[in-house]
Amino acid sequence: SFEVELAQSGQTVTVGPDQTIVQALTGIGIAVEVSCEQGICGTCLCDLLEGEADHRDSFLTDAEKAEGDQIMLCCSRAKSQKLVLDL
Ligand code: FES
Repeated sequence: SFEVELAQSGQTVTVGPDQTIVQALTGIGIAVEVSCEQGICGTCLCDLLEGEADHRDSFLTDAEKAEGDQIMLCCSRAKSQKLVLDL
């Protein structure tokens, strides 16, 4: 599991091994717009302010993934213990 911190509200939530970031956020009442939920469409794109993403999508290019400042919330996870999102 890993932590997700929401920069705008200061809220923190733990994302368990069997849930997505979107599901964890829904659990604390934060609705994220999603469509495909498979990392394809780009709807759930979010700016990543801190932490290292474990990119599982096929929407961002390899260059964008390497850049490390965006993440797809429906499917990607974290390599670092914490991600800080621009939410
Ligand atoms: Fe389509 Fe996340 S909902 S990429």
